[in-house]
Amino acid sequence: MRTISSIKELKAYRQANSVEKTTGFVPTMGALHEGHLSLCQRSMDENDFSIASIFINPTQFDSSVDLESYPSCIEKDLEVLERMGISAVFLPNDQDMYHDNFAYQLQETSFSEKLCGANRPGHFTGVLTVVMKLLNLVWPNRAYFGKKDYQQLELIRGMCAAFFLDVEIVGVETVRDPEGLALSSRNALLNEEGLKMARKLNKMLALRDADDIVSSKLSEEGLLVDYVETHKGRRYGAVRAPGKAGSIRLIDNVTLEASV
Ligand code: PAF
Repeated sequence: MRTISSIKELKAYRQANSVEKTTGFVPTMGALHEGHLSLCQRSMDENDFSIASIFINPTQFDSSVDLESYPSCIEKDLEVLERMGISAVFLPNDQDMYHDNFAYQLQETSFSEKLCGANRPGHFTGVLTVVMKLLNLVWPNRAYFGKKDYQQLELIRGMCAAFFLDVEIVGVETVRDPEGLALSSRNALLNEEGLKMARKLNKMLALRDADDIVSSKLSEEGLLVDYVETHKGRRYGAVRAPGKAGSIRLIDNVTLEASV
């Protein structure tokens, strides 16, 4: 596995490996779990080369506390990626990615203001800006994103269409623990009680009840509900559960045909 830490090196690597080969790209913020690995595996199955990136993107965090507490374990991540057989990993730093001091930003003005965007102002501008930068640098044929972050996936698809980017955006099914909790880097920050409560989220989003009833049921379980809302046949939910240090925000979504 090639570890690439500068943009110059990444460009040279892409030029050397681009002729008649397909490249898949998996952008991540590290603290890799089975969900990320399923994105990497899908990329490796569908492309000649697969590049992952690890970059904790500061512009998508709405508080410095959240940014500072985001888990990071780069050595372990690199070992896991190497073991799976990823071709290369790109590890940019803040200065590489934001040499413009975030003066240029990519903003979506409709769906990004709903759901997570309503609770986390500026979050999706940070996500879309960094994803656009990464896609321009890595220049993949396909890029892989998890369906757990379905709003993010939809916004990235919309951005690529709006700006005529020649990349296929592939949405990959959410990987869950045996009790249905969507795997997330943030799960590691939950305390025992928080983990138990968090495991209710997916099951309750799938109930046939109306959004407000589901929201009340989640509150009764002790979760702090940011939102439960349905858009285009998909129910989205965000809650806060007790963590080892402060509350931890978790999201999930279900298609309503799957409701019980
Ligand atoms: O889903 C994530 O981990 C991040 O939002 C992404 C797409 C890597 C951008 O920083």
